[in-house]
Amino acid sequence: MTTTTTKATTQTRSMAKRILNFSAGPATLPEEVLHQAQQDVWNIADSGIGILEHSHRGKVFTRVLEEAEADCRAIAGIGDDYHVLFLQGGATLQFAMVPMSFLASGRTADYLDTGSWSSKAIKEAQLLGDVNVAFDGSKTSYDHIPANDELDLTDGAGYSYYCANNTIYGTEFSRPPATNSPLVCDASSDIFSRPLEVSQHAIIFAGAQKNLGPAGCTLVIIRKDFMAGANDGLPSMLDYRQHADKGSRLNTPPAFGIYVVGQVFKWILRQGGLAELAIRNREKAGIIYHAIDTSGGSGFYQPVARPDSRSMMNITFRTPSDELDRKFIEEAQQHDMDGLKGHRSVGGLRASIYNAFPKAGCEALASLMSDFASRHG
Ligand SMILES: Cc1ncc(COP(=O)(O)O)c(C=O)c1O
Repeated sequence: MTTTTTKATTQTRSMAKRILNFSAGPATLPEEVLHQAQQDVWNIADSGIGILEHSHRGKVFTRVLEEAEADCRAIAGIGDDYHVLFLQGGATLQFAMVPMSFLASGRTADYLDTGSWSSKAIKEAQLLGDVNVAFDGSKTSYDHIPANDELDLTDGAGYSYYCANNTIYGTEFSRPPATNSPLVCDASSDIFSRPLEVSQHAIIFAGAQKNLGPAGCTLVIIRKDFMAGANDGLPSMLDYRQHADKGSRLNTPPAFGIYVVGQVFKWILRQGGLAELAIRNREKAGIIYHAIDTSGGSGFYQPVARPDSRSMMNITFRTPSDELDRKFIEEAQQHDMDGLKGHRSVGGLRASIYNAFPKAGCEALASLMSDFASRHG
């Protein structure tokens, strides 16, 4: 036992050096949370058993789950009229579960296509029912978020669907779109980065692996009266009502994911909540956008997103050539910065700076951008 402990401690120490991780997801998590998880994997709550090994029906995990739900409600001001569920299958399973449950025959759902993730959601919904693409962002290379008067909405739609933050293109809704039917939101890449208008939504879902924790756990916030109208006859794992009835324990839940997400919730509360995180996130993003707008003086860096639609989480831009993009990534790596390559469908560069990404990392990137532009501009 002593030998194992000593080895583990030595390994932990040798892993002390961490670099700036600009990955779009899975992404940087709060260091405090990672340290706590290291301890709790070994022995949580002085139970003599690690979090990975506890029964999902036992007392220790029950407390983890209850605290995660309570903290989630406290963070976002979620009332009793909503269920908070921790599911599996990633955000991508929600692309199918939403229309399976709520795209009733004879009804249409409105979808706002603002990028790859909403396009994928549209494809899934089209397998299951009638979809109206109420906004087609592909016509302008997904460079912006539509104004309300750009939306072609259906009267009496079953629901309207949008993706709050387009991880790949770097655009973000500054407020939910004005629609005339229940609103469904994919908030995977900006959940809890700013105050969330829960009451304007019927469903908000998010894969955890950007702002909330590890991949493998999906947060679903669903209004109870909307859920009550779900289609019948679904397999149990695809039925929100059954998950809600069983309090996210219809089967063995993603226990470790829920534990880490719960720790991240506690971290968010310690930081001062969503209003405080929104201030920090605007400040962090502002540092990099300023470098895009000013470095090199004459537009050395070209933004992918229109200025009025800029994301606070994923900042997308290009240098004057693919070759310089590659060179920039190489130099960034020499400065201990990783994950800056743009998504393969867009190219260029992308800096993902979720809640846990440090301001000093944004300053380091901006400084490299300015230096690089002066040498290559
Ligand atoms: C906005 C958005 N939606 C959905 C997904 C897909 O998530 P998952 O891999 O959890 O299915 C992603 C992944 O990056 C995303 O950024």
